[in-house]
Amino acid sequence: MFSKKKENPQIDPQQRELYEHARKRIIQKKRLFQHFVVFVVGAVFFAVLNLAFGYGKELTFFGVDWCIIAIICWAFLFVLHFCNVWLFSKFMGQEWTDRQMERLVAKQKEEIALMQKDVDLMYPKEELIKKKEEFIKGNQLKKVDEPKKSNKMITMIAAAGENDALGKDNDLVWHLPDDFKRFKALTTGHHIIMGRKTFESFPKLLPNRVHIIISRNKNYQADGAFVVQTMEEALEMAKNDDKPFIIGGGEIYNLGLNYATHIELTRVHADFEADAFFPKIDTSVWELVKEEFHDVDEKHKFSFTYLTYQKK
Ligand SMILES: NC(=O)c1ccc[n+]([C@@H]2O[C@H](COP(=O)([O-])OP(=O)(O)OC[C@H]3O[C@@H](n4cnc5c(N)ncnc54)[C@H](OP(=O)(O)O)[C@@H]3O)[C@@H](O)[C@H]2O)c1
Repeated sequence: MFSKKKENPQIDPQQRELYEHARKRIIQKKRLFQHFVVFVVGAVFFAVLNLAFGYGKELTFFGVDWCIIAIICWAFLFVLHFCNVWLFSKFMGQEWTDRQMERLVAKQKEEIALMQKDVDLMYPKEELIKKKEEFIKGNQLKKVDEPKKSNKMITMIAAAGENDALGKDNDLVWHLPDDFKRFKALTTGHHIIMGRKTFESFPKLLPNRVHIIISRNKNYQADGAFVVQTMEEALEMAKNDDKPFIIGGGEIYNLGLNYATHIELTRVHADFEADAFFPKIDTSVWELVKEEFHDVDEKHKFSFTYLTYQKK
């Protein structure tokens, strides 16, 4: 009549064990509660019999009616039962916890071994070692090449005569409005790095540009501009700008040649008397990638050509 319960093959044995533990625990608590109810009813029953009807007074131990002694003994048994459920019989005791921990560790080890197997299959050990060596080598090379290989553009922008003249007595020696406009269009919104003398040649700050002044004088200060002592510091300050400009003058262009990736040079087609000069452009290092001629007109006394160079 009673068919044996079939084990569900889909239930994980560990889940089943958890379930069994929980079920036993519920039964334990239920029994304790039943015991409590029976004890309360029984104790009240005996107490009423004893107090109201004088039942049990015929037998006493040390002057206490046997009914009362029975209630005390029962209370003692109930306390034992209570302790057994809540104190001694810990739910899923230490032994069970240890067993679970061992199982978990074994399972993790198994999974790690499987993953290792996959890695070994995908990358045989020799290949991994090779890849690691290539990676380290690549990183080292990257460090050496960093200034050249970076995608960042560092542009030196200048206007120079045929004899590389830049200016005299801390001023320019020509007036070319279209070149000014181009300078403004290219540099607006960017960091502009300049020597202290060039900065002092400006009547005021150039709007919408971050001014970085290079000076050896650590105490040099300029309102609205940053002052640094080296080109490295200047470039570090402009590191979040993907296109900072080095805007002169002669001494700073010389410093900038090692760091620049591009040169925007306006070659003014005449020779000028000057005391600041643009450095010679070595065509084995710099490639001319664009040129645009601008003729003489009523606003421009000299013809000039915009030359764009890129470091090879
Ligand atoms: N045509 C153009 O496109 C153009 C562009 C810009 C400027 N300019 C002209 O160029 C002239 C100015 O050029 P410049 O060569 O005389 O001066 P500059 O390059 O503008 O500034 C020179 C100053 O920069 C600082 N400096 C230079 N090398 C340094 C280093 N290695 N470390 C730290 N600080 C350094 C020094 O400042 P401290 O003395 O404070 O230490 C030095 O006096 C002006 O005539 C200007 O009009 C022309």
